[in-house]
Amino acid sequence: MLNQLNKTKSETGVSPEEFRRSMSKFATGVAVITTADSGILYGMTVNSLTSLSLTPCLLLICPKLGSATGHAIRNSRRFIVNVLEAGQQELCQRFVGKDAKRFDGMELQFSADGLPLLQGCIAHISCRLHAVHPGGDHEIIVGEVIDCAGHHGDPMIFHEGRLLNGVA
Ligand SMILES: Cc1cc2nc3c(=O)[nH]c(=O)nc-3n(C[C@H](O)[C@H](O)[C@H](O)COP(=O)(O)O)c2cc1C
Repeated sequence: MLNQLNKTKSETGVSPEEFRRSMSKFATGVAVITTADSGILYGMTVNSLTSLSLTPCLLLICPKLGSATGHAIRNSRRFIVNVLEAGQQELCQRFVGKDAKRFDGMELQFSADGLPLLQGCIAHISCRLHAVHPGGDHEIIVGEVIDCAGHHGDPMIFHEGRLLNGVA
């Protein structure tokens, strides 16, 4: 049995560590989710980004419970998915951790509804909040796409807990 190797097990017999290790084999892209609430800008790095539906156009992200950005999205009911280009490691790191000054010194553009658009990204996808579902220690935020554009460039790749060509 695969999970006989587990040190700590949940009621199902699967440990979070083994689950994390197994899922780390699934390579993903990386995006920074941005929003604004009461004049304050928020942003977080995610790899839990999945397209969900074409008709209507829906996607989902999964912020952990307590995420400041997740909370701001529930208030503002708007967010932008900024898909990172392979060379944007600094941007990836900037939006991890508890730093209120994440946007300091950045040259920003803004969407029509005032949300920050990060420069140099390979796609920008603007969403309005469609639904929020529970998901264990995370929540599932579903966005309806109201505008999107893709640009040239190679994607950032996250695999086995690190960025290809970088660190995370
Ligand atoms: C490559 C990468 C992917 C990440 N994906 C997620 C994710 O999908 N969901 C999440 O809650 N945190 C994710 N994180 C961690 C968050 O970026 C980090 O906890 C951040 O500080 C949350 O910001 P906030 O609490 O201010 O919203 C990821 C971090 C990295 C480096």
